[in-house]
Amino acid sequence: MKIAIMGAMPEEIEPLIAQLDNVTTTVYAQNKYYEGSYKGQEVVVAYSKIGKVFATLTATILLERFGCDVLLFSGVAGAIADDLEIGDLVIADGLCQHDLDITAFGHPFGYVPEGEVCIPTDVKLRTIAKEIAADKGIVLKEGVIATGDQFIANADRKNWIGDTFNAHALEMEGAAVAVVCNAFNTPFFILRAISDAADMDAGFDFDAFLESSAKISADFILAMVEKVRK
Ligand code: ADE
Repeated sequence: MKIAIMGAMPEEIEPLIAQLDNVTTTVYAQNKYYEGSYKGQEVVVAYSKIGKVFATLTATILLERFGCDVLLFSGVAGAIADDLEIGDLVIADGLCQHDLDITAFGHPFGYVPEGEVCIPTDVKLRTIAKEIAADKGIVLKEGVIATGDQFIANADRKNWIGDTFNAHALEMEGAAVAVVCNAFNTPFFILRAISDAADMDAGFDFDAFLESSAKISADFILAMVEKVRK
């Protein structure tokens, strides 16, 4: 089995690469892919760059070019749910695209014909995550994560996304990864640690907490790697 671990930004994958053995780097389609092993398990790690288009490209390459069998995403998100604090971990039970809008044709927000508003993540991977969290005494929240090509720093927009998609957190890549993995029938898991509350302070908080929250997510993902291979 080969496990893909993906982030969007360098800060999201650096704590992962630091823990790998025998790392080799391949440049492909203007991006870097780090192949190595973690406790004997083969992994391929990459960051996509921000947004749905780059995330689609990287996820596709991890599956098609590198032959990964499972994809784990690690990164940060803006909180929607009031009970989410900076540093809290959220796993997606489903992903939707909050900026996908052909409502002019009578469709709901986030829907295009032959697609679905919310793509579910793999139940087994979520179960493994909950077992790890219980073992380690970590609180893991679960809910819909909404994705869009917008950094949200506005309470009205954030609340609209929360109300429209029943979303708990928001970010800029997860639903793109979901579309790719769903199309290739590859199990995937999206984990995010909260870096901000997607409100007027979001830009400041994101800069302040990106590194620490990304590390919290990355550490949990490495525990996942150990269990997923069994
Ligand atoms: N990722 C982390 N915080 C975010 C925000 N406020 N908007 C979009 N993506 C994010």
